[in-house]
Formats: sequence, structure tokens, C-alpha cells
Amino acid sequence: MIDLRSDTLTRPTEAMRQAMARAEVGDDVYGEDPTVLALEERVAQLFGHEAALFMPTGSMANVLAVRALVQPGQEVICEASAHIARAELGAHAAYSGITMRTWFHPRGQVDLAMLRQMHAPDLGPFFVRTAAISVECTHNFAGGAVLPIEDLRDLRELATAAGSSVHMDGARIWNAHVATGTPLAEYGAVADVMAVCLSKGLGAPVGSLTLGSADVIAEARVWRKRMGGGMRQVGILAAAGLHALDHHLERLADDHAHARLLAEACGVDPEGVDTNIVVVPRTDAADFVVRAAEAGVRVSMVGPTTVRLVTHLDVTREDAEKAAAALSAL
Ligand SMILES: Cc1ncc(COP(=O)(O)O)c(C=O)c1O
Repeated sequence: MIDLRSDTLTRPTEAMRQAMARAEVGDDVYGEDPTVLALEERVAQLFGHEAALFMPTGSMANVLAVRALVQPGQEVICEASAHIARAELGAHAAYSGITMRTWFHPRGQVDLAMLRQMHAPDLGPFFVRTAAISVECTHNFAGGAVLPIEDLRDLRELATAAGSSVHMDGARIWNAHVATGTPLAEYGAVADVMAVCLSKGLGAPVGSLTLGSADVIAEARVWRKRMGGGMRQVGILAAAGLHALDHHLERLADDHAHARLLAEACGVDPEGVDTNIVVVPRTDAADFVVRAAEAGVRVSMVGPTTVRLVTHLDVTREDAEKAAAALSAL
């Protein structure tokens, strides 16, 4: 079975397991796990942020990032199919008392004209106040689309002028970096607070980080513990993240090439595939998923007429070619 449902399905390589087994550890709730501290420092530096905080999931990293910028009763605005709006099960409302309004773009892009219309400054006790704008790069449900750095800079300018903050869900920012060559620090510069994941294309079994100023991260540390995310000798997991950064970053380009191959086989224009995710419109989506599985390829349905294929570390060139042949026959 070739599994293209998600890039979260990767299993740690033998070398990663060895790095995990060798990791120096301490109690991270006491701030004493040297491997976690090394990972946090490295990732913060990569993005040019003051500090970073390691945590179990991208969802938690987003919840702590957004709540650092938006008070209960205020709003964050984001694209309609953003992970924070669609796939975090209402966490931002349930835990942080935050409301959301959304704009729609088929490729998950920034829409400055729409944002200018939507952005609500503090109008006193009449309207919900916009405290932050959130962007997702790459955009998962928009097919791994990259948000061009020029658009993100324009967004930064708009937000600053409007007195709002910027959150970036950078679960797959690594893919955007490899696809475009844009330095990670340039992405980091447009966001006040961001979340990044090691457990997607980079292939770590667990692990995400929230990044921001030293003050934001000190407060996020309190909230992480409050939410039950204070882990102890978790350097074992941080070691997997460090190993992934050393060995699995540049190879994301292979995943992108495999995704374009699969797109072509499914009749999707490969030019529209920026990274490792292919969205295939199928009126028979549910049936297609079943027939693909019968042909040895697991894919997922992300909407009634939408199938998604995701390439990753555990999909070799040979797998991609086999899957392309099986899917093209369907
Ligand atoms: C864009 C994006 N953000 C956040 C997450 C959340 O990550 P996690 O599954 O670790 O909570 C995901 C998960 O797939 C994602 O695709």
C-alpha cells in the first residue's frame, strides 16, 4: 500500500531513532532539557524570532500563538479553509474565547482588498475588534499553495498600519522555503507569532514550536502547562526534530517533484502544484478513494468532491511512479 493520505504518516528513520536514543535529556518543565533548549534556540534563530517553545502538536502551537495576539471577545481574521478555522475543532473559541471571520480564496492566498474591507478597528462597544490576521503558508486545504513573500510583506504593512498583529501557521513553511528559496528568516519577519511543525514533511514523529518575542513565549510556557502540555524528558522528541532539520529539509524538493508527477497522472496541471500536496477535483470522491485503495494507493477525501494526495519522506520515486500509474488508470 502506498499511503498518500498525509505527510504526518511518516515513521522515524533508523538514523532518527538512534539520534532519539542518544539524546541528552532533563526535565523540560523545569527548563532543564538541553536537547529541547537547543532545538528551541535553533528554530527561533532560523526565523529571526527571540524565542521558541516546543510542544506536542501544531494545533497547540497555533492555539498558544493566536491567544498571544487576540484577547477573549476579540477576533482573528483568516482564509476560510485555514487549518485554524476548519480543522482545530473550535479550539480557539473553546479555550481562548476568540471569534473568527474569514475571507475566501481558492488558493488560500492573501486578499488585501478584502482584508481592508474586513479589518475592524476598535469601534467601541459596537463591533468585534480585529486583533490579528492569520495566514497559512503553505496552505494545506488549498493544495499546499505557497503564499508569495511579496504578498506577505504587503499584509505585514497593512496589519501594522491598522494596528493588528500577524499570526502565521507555518506547519509547512519548510516546504515554502524549499520551493521558493525564500530564507526562513524572511517568512519569520512578517509574523509577530508563528507556529511551525516538525511532524509533517520533515518526518519527526511528534513536535511543533510556537515562535515569538521572549515575553510572548514566557506567557505561552504558562499556557502550555495549563493546557496539560508540560512534558518532561522530552529531549527524546526534540532530538528527532534536530535530526529532521539536519537531514530532511532539502529533500522536501523530492516530495514536490513527486507531487507534480502525481498531479499529471490525475489530470491536474502540475504548474499549479507548488509543494507536496495535490488537490484533485472528483465528483465521485468517495468512490475514488475506495477504488484507489483497491489499486494499492491510499488517498483522502477532504470535501465531497475533493480528493487530496500528499507526498512525504516514506514515498520513494518508485512509489510515486507506481501510484501515478495506478491513479491514472482510474
Ligand atoms: C496547516 C496545518 N496547521 C496545523 C496543523 C496541526 O498540526 P497537528 O496535527 O500536529 O495538531 C496541521 C495538521 O495537519 C496543518 O496542516
